Amino acid sequence: MADGKPLKIALAITGASGALYAVRTLAELLARGVHVELVVSDYGRRLLRDELGDEATLEKLLPYLTSKYGGTVSAGALSVHSNRDLGATIASGSHNCSAMAIVPCSMKTLAGIAHGLSRNLVERAADVMLKERRRLVIVPRETPMSLPALKNMVLCAEAGAMIVPAMPAFYQQPKSLDDLADFMAGKILSALGFEHDLYPAWTGQV
Ligand SMILES: Cc1cc2nc3c(=O)[nH]c(=O)nc-3n(C[C@H](O)[C@H](O)[C@H](O)COP(=O)(O)O)c2cc1C
Repeated sequence: MADGKPLKIALAITGASGALYAVRTLAELLARGVHVELVVSDYGRRLLRDELGDEATLEKLLPYLTSKYGGTVSAGALSVHSNRDLGATIASGSHNCSAMAIVPCSMKTLAGIAHGLSRNLVERAADVMLKERRRLVIVPRETPMSLPALKNMVLCAEAGAMIVPAMPAFYQQPKSLDDLADFMAGKILSALGFEHDLYPAWTGQV
């Protein structure tokens, strides 16, 4: 909460593999009462459906989250913006959106952010976070990585973004894909400044 109003956080889903990380992160933010301003690129939409099935299309996302993660998601609010709408709230620094996460982030969107292109709402909102010195969490996913992609990550980090690669760990002994998604969502929540118990804190031994 900020001044009694829900915290606003922008979440972008782009066309890299890892839609499960995005929906887990979205559910956790909503469960914390956050007003999530969601923008999904065309390929982000495709990956939601390709990786999670027809029940997880953008239009059905809230029922999907509720059935998968429970009714706690109703604690938050969800606004969906078109990626073509460069007049949306999150395109302006005067809008009080305090942070943004891009989960997962394609190499194309990464390049656009690194070079300040603002070709669509995802890139523009990310640029707003950088220029306003607000928290920007980028979760890139690609392998292997080209030199341009690696350099673009450095450019974004130099500009103030936090690079949180989609690289789940195994020391927490995951038993399922959901365990791996919990780990990544936990890392993203930490980067956004939230506490969570999505994976056990490291105690010094497995
Ligand atoms: C099934 C599928 C998987 C993809 N996985 C990745 C990926 O993991 N990383 C990546 O950078 N691009 C990936 N791409 C390519 C991007 O979707 C493509 O570059 C697209 O233009 C990204 O646009 P966006 O950033 O606006 O979503 C994938 C495409 C498809 C169809």
